[in-house]
Amino acid sequence: MLVLGIESTCDETGFAIVRDGQEILSNVVATQEDLHSRFGGVVPEVACRRHVDVLLPLLNKALCVPLEEIDLIAVANGPGLIGALLIGVNFAQGLAFSTGKPLVGVNHIEAHLYSALMESQPPLPALGVVMSGGHTSLVYVEDVGQYTLIGQTQDDAIGEAFDKAAKLLGLPYPGGPHIEQLAREGDPNRFPLKAGRIKGRPYDFSFSGLKTALLYLVKGQNATKNSPLIISDEDKKHAAASFQHTAFSDLVEKVCSGAKQYGCKSILVGGGVSQNTYFRCLLENRSSVPIFWPPKGLCLDNGAIIAGLGYHIFQEHGGAENIKADPGLALKERTDAIHTHPTCHTFGTSHIH
Ligand code: KG4
Ligand code: ZN
Repeated sequence: MLVLGIESTCDETGFAIVRDGQEILSNVVATQEDLHSRFGGVVPEVACRRHVDVLLPLLNKALCVPLEEIDLIAVANGPGLIGALLIGVNFAQGLAFSTGKPLVGVNHIEAHLYSALMESQPPLPALGVVMSGGHTSLVYVEDVGQYTLIGQTQDDAIGEAFDKAAKLLGLPYPGGPHIEQLAREGDPNRFPLKAGRIKGRPYDFSFSGLKTALLYLVKGQNATKNSPLIISDEDKKHAAASFQHTAFSDLVEKVCSGAKQYGCKSILVGGGVSQNTYFRCLLENRSSVPIFWPPKGLCLDNGAIIAGLGYHIFQEHGGAENIKADPGLALKERTDAIHTHPTCHTFGTSHIH
């Protein structure tokens, strides 16, 4: 079955054609780097206009087979920016209507989770880790579509924290790769920083305190984010390295103890931040179960993971009549799973829905 996947949840526009949920025939992504450097980040209205401009030419570029041969259209319908989602969903609905093809809506976070399954078949259950610009989620994965959320961020997502930290250090958007690069020349233990802990919720995250600690470190106590930097270029490298080390050590610690507590046989990682080499080394060194990373090109937002997961959604539920763009779309969870797993009782289920 050939599935056309459409991604437009934030600023990337993506189209891909994937066979049977695994084999990628085409995968094209338009980024908005020129707009990022002009506006210093994502401006929703501007991002939406760009989606509209590039949708049709990008679809044509992705169509390595005639449109008639496509069996299913899959579109990311949330979570994300409402305007951007509406553009993708309306486009997909129009295409499905005019061609008579079935359509499914795909949760963007679930698609990041699925990315590590596109070329591999990890042993399950697994601990899924979504680390992106909008999300930091730990998910107990029994199978595709069988999820239980065990932890998430209470404030900034990990990628958002990197983007904000980069801005404080005067680095361009998106900041993650720039922090990683600067940190390569720094000492990760030079400045003692701490990531947040949430009482009674061992697998939740908080990065806003870490970000404020970085602000005071590089701009002085009581500085605001627009104050000038007061540290040397050398210390800037150490600050980037210390920030990166602190944020990722917290993540790795929670991922590994979550995997152990839940009896997971593997770890699946997805989302833009999973490109970070320092994180990959930390997790590989610390984990006692195998780790599955997204194939090349599938960490950041793209249509291939939407098409890949869309295939499974269609197998399970068939096409949808009407798809709604939902900026706060939650991961659909099992309601029974947590009670059936033997180790889950040990730390309570109050934060597990
Ligand atoms: O998954 P993604 O494309 O978008 C969302 O769904 O949000 O992830 C984008 C995020 C940005 O915050 C970016 O700074 C971060 O991924 N990122 C990185 C790296 N490459 C991208 N963060 C840390 N290190 C990297 N090498
Ligand atoms: Zn994403």
